[in-house]
Amino acid sequence: MDAGARPAPGACPRRRPDRRPDRSGDPVTLTEALRTDVRVGLSAERKWLPSKWFYDATGSDLFERITELPEYYPTRAEREILDRESAAIARETGTATLVELGSGSSEKTRLLLDALTAHGTLTEFAPLDVSASALDAAAAAISADYPGLRVRGVVGDFTDQLGVLPGAAPRMVVFLGGTIGNLLPAERAKFLSNVAGALAPGEWLLLGTDLVKDPGVLVRAYDDDQGVTAAFNRNVLHVINARLGADFRPGAFEHVAVWDAREEWIEMRLRAREAMTVRIPGAGLEVAFDAGEEVRTEISAKFRAEGVAAELAGAGFEQHRWWTDSQERFGLSLGRLTDGGA
Ligand code: SAH
Ligand code: AVI
Repeated sequence: MDAGARPAPGACPRRRPDRRPDRSGDPVTLTEALRTDVRVGLSAERKWLPSKWFYDATGSDLFERITELPEYYPTRAEREILDRESAAIARETGTATLVELGSGSSEKTRLLLDALTAHGTLTEFAPLDVSASALDAAAAAISADYPGLRVRGVVGDFTDQLGVLPGAAPRMVVFLGGTIGNLLPAERAKFLSNVAGALAPGEWLLLGTDLVKDPGVLVRAYDDDQGVTAAFNRNVLHVINARLGADFRPGAFEHVAVWDAREEWIEMRLRAREAMTVRIPGAGLEVAFDAGEEVRTEISAKFRAEGVAAELAGAGFEQHRWWTDSQERFGLSLGRLTDGGA
């Protein structure tokens, strides 16, 4: 992992006023955070790891490859909505500062940047991501392609306190890709209330959510024929090997994607093909796996329209607009913070 889990935009007084990403997330802190997560998750009765550790440079590249897979529809579905609605979003919000959380390559975000630039209100773009490599590449490319725009990237963790967001009002926080579904319900509520706390009444949240659909379609999206998602899943073991000196053999773990109909989420797991003991010196751990034992590496919750509206309302956002793609696979909400919200 080559990224830091540090302050969000505005929370960091050391943010540099230039176009290069903030580097306040230092590798020592990052390794410390991974060590804690590995100790907690791999000592648990049912083993688990937080999904943010997929995203070193290789993991971010693998995610980009996933977005191009025939089975992985969410990126195309969300792009269809943004293509159709970005001009309306620009008109209705008049956004001056666009803050993107979990920004990755910010490829789809360009549709919003184009529309807001054409509308004439946008002055600043502040992407935040835990993956320094993805953030570097995106910030450099966007700086080059949008010459008048102030670009301030921050390497950070969007589940941390966001503090006061930077930039001129009105601000719009965008959280695309359905990444909110990678948080557990209680984490989602906390995250949304953190976002609300970082905005002023009348400001905006644009939120992408993947929708509940045929389980066969969902499972295929997380278990593709080329094995790209399997490689992405196993990448967390490479990250732990690299950062904590562990001796995981990633090939000794099978990629598993299952639909949990009760929770309405996809679970990605890694299943030990045989009994083994893995040494993780950087975490002071030896972890025994039974043959067939699983580690949960990600949940990817799928939503219903009414559930999204309720979660937004719980954090003080009015669901000002709700759009889906033409096949109703993916939803995009434009939330507006109400007076009682912040
Ligand atoms: N928004 C992009 C990328 C989605 S992939 C899109 O819609 O295509 C999820 C992104 O969130 C990755 O770039 C990953 O590095 C980042 N990410 C995951 N967990 C994070 C966390 N806790 N804090 C900050 N970024 C995180
Ligand atoms: C980033 N996030 C929304 C992706 C998802 O679909 O949950 C990550 C991913 N996991 C497997 N494929 C893609």
